[in-house]
Amino acid sequence: MIIAIDGPAGSGKSTIARCVAEKLGGVYLDSGAMYRAVAWALSCERLLDTDDAVLERALPSLPLEFVVRDARLQILWRGAPLGLEIRTPDIARAASAIAQKSPVRRFLLQHQRRLAQDTLVVAEGRDMSTVVFPNAEVKVFLTASPEERARRRVAQYHEQGTHADYQVVLEALKARDHADAHRSLAPLKPADGAVVVDTSGLSVPQVAQVVMDLVESAKSKNARRKGSRAD
Ligand code: DC
Repeated sequence: MIIAIDGPAGSGKSTIARCVAEKLGGVYLDSGAMYRAVAWALSCERLLDTDDAVLERALPSLPLEFVVRDARLQILWRGAPLGLEIRTPDIARAASAIAQKSPVRRFLLQHQRRLAQDTLVVAEGRDMSTVVFPNAEVKVFLTASPEERARRRVAQYHEQGTHADYQVVLEALKARDHADAHRSLAPLKPADGAVVVDTSGLSVPQVAQVVMDLVESAKSKNARRKGSRAD
């Protein structure tokens, strides 16, 4: 089963996807981390501004690995796990920029589908339910006001020990929303059939419950379909 959760930065995707994956014993796939890791790798190799033909050749030979360990995506750079270094505002901005390039999207799409093979996956990002897993059994689009999302981001940066100015974070978030939603390739938008949930004012358990209810009804629908095929 694939549960695809899309939405803008700070909408609560990661927290909810992680929580639902834990409840279901499935794999949590953070596709944003994959875009951030590619931005990190291209920046290390001084390839951020290169053209598509060079990118196409360079991407498969980067010393970057995407593996599933302990039911989560782990990203290795030169054999060592990437962590907070990809969670900075600069890498967020670079990730949003390289996410507009087709060689990058093709490269990551193939890894995302490979990682989701033969397992229950809760995948979150911008195009999980529209492009990468269009046949996902559950499709959710999480959203919240930009102000609420900026407050959450500032709190996250503080937890990581980084000072962040609310106004700067809010402006950067709005700019990234605009870039992610208006690009020509796989723009951020709710998929056909996705359930849109505004998480402003809702607690994590409340949103997780909405998703769990959708999972339950998708399971019953599957069971009914299998039953009617067996008749
Ligand atoms: O979810 P995030 O903030 O970690 O994502 C970083 C950037 O990566 C985001 O601004 C756009 C891009 N991205 C994407 O284009 N498609 C995805 N499925 C996930 C992220």
